[in-house]
Amino acid sequence: MQRFETYLQENLPKVSTFHPIYEDALGVMLLAGGKRFRPMLLLTIVDAYEPMLHGASLPVALAIEMLHTYSLIHDDLPAMDDSPLRRGHPTLHTRYDEVTAILAGDALNTDAFYTLSQAPLRDDVKMKLVELLARDGGGRGMVLGQAIDCYFENQPLSLEQVKTLHRNKTAKLIAVSMQMGAVIAQLPRSTQEDLYAFGLDLGLLFQIQDDIIDETQSEVEAGKPTQHDTDKNSFVNLLGLDESIREANSVAKDLQRRFEHFDKRLQNALQPLMNQYLYRHIKE
Ligand code: IPE
Ligand code: IPE
Ligand code: MG
Ligand code: MG
Ligand code: MG
Repeated sequence: MQRFETYLQENLPKVSTFHPIYEDALGVMLLAGGKRFRPMLLLTIVDAYEPMLHGASLPVALAIEMLHTYSLIHDDLPAMDDSPLRRGHPTLHTRYDEVTAILAGDALNTDAFYTLSQAPLRDDVKMKLVELLARDGGGRGMVLGQAIDCYFENQPLSLEQVKTLHRNKTAKLIAVSMQMGAVIAQLPRSTQEDLYAFGLDLGLLFQIQDDIIDETQSEVEAGKPTQHDTDKNSFVNLLGLDESIREANSVAKDLQRRFEHFDKRLQNALQPLMNQYLYRHIKE
């Protein structure tokens, strides 16, 4: 974890220009912190099988965090969730202006793939990683989820539709982080698929939890405004808080059962992350 943070700090997008705030704008939201859940999933899977590839995987982990951070910068814009606070800091459009935030997001989106391309990994492996990240982070994945989320504000969706929304906007990037770790470690295709399927439900749980956070936490605890999802097709708005917690617990129990079938190396490596994001549901 510390190694990733150091790598991130030392590899922020660097662009020498007379533009007074441009370079700062590209890096400030990456530096603001966050849970780093997606890079940790990828690096943990690499570490379980090919720890020698940890260093070579850091640019790939950073690429995912860059793409995720771009999605947050755009998510907070006035045209989308209109949010002044992110990761405990003012959002980019609040700190500077909307143009700067839109362009910083654009830059991080494309630069993610540049960063990935520079990883000292085999070219065929990098080609696959580009394909996977583009597949799930773009118009067939995260962006589709955001589009459904925004288009259907104030128009209630069915439970199945809300799950589709959550799978696209959040779960696919989490799932593909696990799959990309498996691709770097050259795990068999069936293991890659199992990890991806597990990641999809883990990501669904993560977004249900995010919707619960909006209902139950303070702005200080969350590092972003809460009670902000009033017009959204969130789990809490659809099912109510108690039923959302029950749904989270039930997804978590199913994930635990599947986790116990992973091989021991993988279980041991992923255990700390699962304790943090999965088992707290089961204990509730
Ligand atoms: C926030 O993601 C948006 C969702 C997809 C739920 P995170 O909860 O991972 O945000 P950070 O990276 O920790 O700030
Ligand atoms: C956004 O979901 C997920 C993204 C793809 C950025 P939310 O709008 O629920 O995320 P928060 O609550 O602002 O972090
Ligand atoms: Mg949103
Ligand atoms: Mg939001
Ligand atoms: Mg949210």
